[in-house]
Amino acid sequence: MLGFMLVILGARLLEKLHLDDVVGAWPVHGLCGVWGGIATGVFTEHALGPQIIGSIAIPAWAFLTMFALFHVLKAAGVLRVSRGEEILGLDMAEHGEVEGETQFEWREEYRLHVPEMDKEHENLFRIIGEIVDAMKSGLGKGAIEDAFQGLLDYTVNHFQDEEELMERYSYPHLEEHKKIHGQFKQKVLAYKEELFQKDSFDAKDFQNFISGWLINHILEVDRQYGEFINAKLHESDNV
Ligand SMILES: [Fe+2]
Repeated sequence: MLGFMLVILGARLLEKLHLDDVVGAWPVHGLCGVWGGIATGVFTEHALGPQIIGSIAIPAWAFLTMFALFHVLKAAGVLRVSRGEEILGLDMAEHGEVEGETQFEWREEYRLHVPEMDKEHENLFRIIGEIVDAMKSGLGKGAIEDAFQGLLDYTVNHFQDEEELMERYSYPHLEEHKKIHGQFKQKVLAYKEELFQKDSFDAKDFQNFISGWLINHILEVDRQYGEFINAKLHESDNV
């Protein structure tokens, strides 16, 4: 009974403190674990003293070693997922789908607050969504090739628009960004070669390819110029 109450109260406490523990590991294993150790000393013939020492020493050891380990992981940059994956959500980033929503539906969180680019990104999502649907519904090879070519043409124009915009605002990382666009174009061309040789199309494979590149690009790399331009616009508003 006490264990049950500890789980409920512990989970509520975490919520109040805004600490993320979705599976309730701390209330179940931490609080109930400590209580289980002590209860063994209280209700059985085991000596209470060593039970209390063990119940304190084990969590303390776990806390200290994990504290050190997570700091090392943080320093190595592998503790958190990327910012883009965070915005997308792990269900989307890892599994490509959350209930009733595919990865390629436009969401408000994707907005950079640079209206002309948001509009183009929204169009990109729509075109990609149409290709995924075409692949899933088994549309003919010609139709999918046309749709893919449409995506490629739109992407090339979009990159050009983006680069012009960055230039207009003297964005300091323009050259790096251009390089990334160039790499993406090469990848898409290689993927196109591969895709057009096939007779059947795998929507999942296409989704993985596109999300690995384009979506992450919009959510991570583009976000940086979005923030830069917005900061510049605010600066000129305040002058
Ligand atoms: Fe870009």
